[in-house]
Amino acid sequence: MCGIVGYIGDGSAKEAILTGLKNLEYRGYDSAGIAIGKKDKILLRKESGELENLIAKTQKSDFDGTIGIGHTRWATHGSPIRENAHPHLSADGRVAIVHNGIIENYIELKHMLTEEHGIIFKSETDSEVIAQLIGIYYEGDLLEAVRAAVKCVRGAYAIGVMAADVSDTIIAVRKDAPLIAGIGEGCNYLASDIPAVLGHTRDIYVIENDEIVVITKDDIKIYDEDMTRVSRDIMHVEWDAAAAEKGGYEDFMKKEIFEQPRGVKETLERRLTEGDEIWLDGIELSKEEIENIDRIYIVACGTASYAGIQGVTLFEKFAGIPSESDIASEFRYRNPLVNERTLCVCISQSGETTDTLEALREAKRKGARILSICNVVGSSVARESDDVMFTWAGPEIAVASTKAYTTQLICLYLLALYMGRAKGTLPDAEYRSVLAELKQIPDKLTEVLKTEDQIKTLAEKFYIKEQVFYIGRGMDVGTAFEASLKLKEITYINSFAIAAGELKHGTIALVRNQTLFFVLATQDKLYEKMLSNIEEIKARKAYVVSVAKEGNTRVAKVSDETIYIPNCADDVAPILAVVPMQLLAYHIAKMLKRNIDKPRNLAKSVTVE
Ligand code: G6P
Repeated sequence: MCGIVGYIGDGSAKEAILTGLKNLEYRGYDSAGIAIGKKDKILLRKESGELENLIAKTQKSDFDGTIGIGHTRWATHGSPIRENAHPHLSADGRVAIVHNGIIENYIELKHMLTEEHGIIFKSETDSEVIAQLIGIYYEGDLLEAVRAAVKCVRGAYAIGVMAADVSDTIIAVRKDAPLIAGIGEGCNYLASDIPAVLGHTRDIYVIENDEIVVITKDDIKIYDEDMTRVSRDIMHVEWDAAAAEKGGYEDFMKKEIFEQPRGVKETLERRLTEGDEIWLDGIELSKEEIENIDRIYIVACGTASYAGIQGVTLFEKFAGIPSESDIASEFRYRNPLVNERTLCVCISQSGETTDTLEALREAKRKGARILSICNVVGSSVARESDDVMFTWAGPEIAVASTKAYTTQLICLYLLALYMGRAKGTLPDAEYRSVLAELKQIPDKLTEVLKTEDQIKTLAEKFYIKEQVFYIGRGMDVGTAFEASLKLKEITYINSFAIAAGELKHGTIALVRNQTLFFVLATQDKLYEKMLSNIEEIKARKAYVVSVAKEGNTRVAKVSDETIYIPNCADDVAPILAVVPMQLLAYHIAKMLKRNIDKPRNLAKSVTVE
C-alpha cells in the first residue's frame, strides 16, 4: 500500500514525483517523503499526515533537481511519524532509498549493522536496513552495492535507490512487490503503480520478480539476478488518466457506484458472441479440462471474498462442481486439499493483495490451475495466474469496493455458465434464461440507482445508530455480508451480518426495541422463510428495512420500510440487491462527515500479510 515514484531527466524531479505521489494517494498512506539529488548532495524532505504537508515543505525553488525518488508510506514497522517516512538515508547520507514491502530478517541485519559497523539507526523501520546495507557496500559502484545488499535481505520488496555522487542513474529492484518503469521524453520514471506516471507517459515496462533496473534519463535497462540483460516488451496503457478522476462526483465512491451499469455491461457483453455464446477472452478451458476439475476453491479477501461466496452457489448450480470459498489469509494455513484436479479461483480487485497472492502461490505449488478474476492488468495476481478474467470496471479508487464487486460477480456468472455449458450439464433453456436475465442487469442497475433519494432519507434517519444487523438467506447471505462490510468500512458503525436461519441460535439475544435490521429478501424460493424471520424480530420490536423485488407486497406489510429492486430471477438478484446497500452506507457516511474515499485505518491495496 505504499507508493514509490522516481524521476530522472531534464525537467523538475520535484514536480514529477509529487504529481506521481498524488496519483497514488488511493493506495493509502500516513506519511510521505522525497529525496532530490543536487550538486553531489541528497536533499531530503519528509512529513507525516497528508501529502499537502510534504508539498508545503518542498515549496522553496532551491529544493529541486533533475533526479529524485519519493514515497508514500503506510506504517507496518514503526509508527507513522516523520522519522519513519521514506526515503531513508545511509549513515553517511550518500545513499537514499524508498521501499515497499517487508524485510523479514531486519532485526538480525540491524543487529549486525549496529555491532559490526557502528551504525546508528534513525528510524524504527525495517526499510532503513536497506539504506544502511547499500551504504556499507557502496564503494563507487552503486549497482553492485544494491545487488550485494539485496542478497542479504529476506522478504518482499520494491526498492528505488539513488546516490549523492551518481547524478545520472536510479536503480530499482523488485521481489514480490509491484514495480514499473515509465518511458518519458528526455526523462524516465520509476513507480510502484501505473497511475503514478500516467500524466506523463503511457509506455511502461512491467518489472518482474528478482529483476534489477538501471534507469538513466535516456535509457531503461532491465537485468535478471545474474545481470543478464532482459528484453521486455513495452506495455502501452490504454486507459485514460481522466478515468481515474472524480468526473463530477463528490467522491470516488459515489462515482464508482454510479459507474456500475457501465462496468457490468462491459464485463458481460464483451464476452458474449452474437449467438449468446460465452467467450472467455483467451482463456482455454476445454470440455475435458473442465470435466477433470473435481473441486473449485475460491480465495480472496474482503469484498472480493463475498463475491466468492456467491461464486460457490453459481459453480455448484450451473457447473455441478463441488466448490468452496475461503478467505485467503486462512486458506494456506489449513493445508487445503488441493491437487492437479483443483481449480483455484482467486478474486482480487487490485491484484496485489498479499494474502490472496500467497494463497494463489500455495495452490499453485500444490498443482492447482489458477484462474483469477482481477481488475488490474499487469498486477501480480494477473501475472502469476494461469488464466485471468479481467473485470472491466476501470480503475477503482475509493477504498470501499463497489464496481469491482459487481463486475467480479459478472465474471463468476460467466465462468460458471461457461463451464456448465461446456460440460453439457446445464440445460440449454436454463443457460439462455440466465443469460437473458444477466443482459437486463445493466438497465436494472440504472433503475436501482434511482432509489437514491429514498435511501438518502433512510440514511438521515439511521445515521445516529450505533449498531446495525443484516440478514438474508441463500444468495442474500453473501449480499448481507458485503452490505455490512460497506457500512463498517465507511461509517464506522458496528454492523453484523448473519444468515437469517442462524439468528435464533444466539444473535437474536441482541434484539431489543428499535434494533435496526436490514433484511435482504430477494430470493422467491426462500421468501416465506424470510417473512417468518421478519416476524421473529418484529415481535422483539426491531425496526425492519427490507430489500425485496418489485411486486412482493407482503414483505412491505410486515416491514417498517421496504426498498424495491426491479423484478428479476433469484439467481441474478445479488447483483442488484447490493447497490441500495452501497448507497445506504455512502449516505450514512456522508451524514457522519466521514472520509468516504479513504476511511481511517484502511488501505485500498493491502500488500502486507
Ligand atoms: C482491502 C480493502 C478492501 C478489499 C480487500 C481486497 O482490505 O480495504 O476493500 O476488498 O483489500 O482487495 P483486493 O484488491 O484483493 O480485491
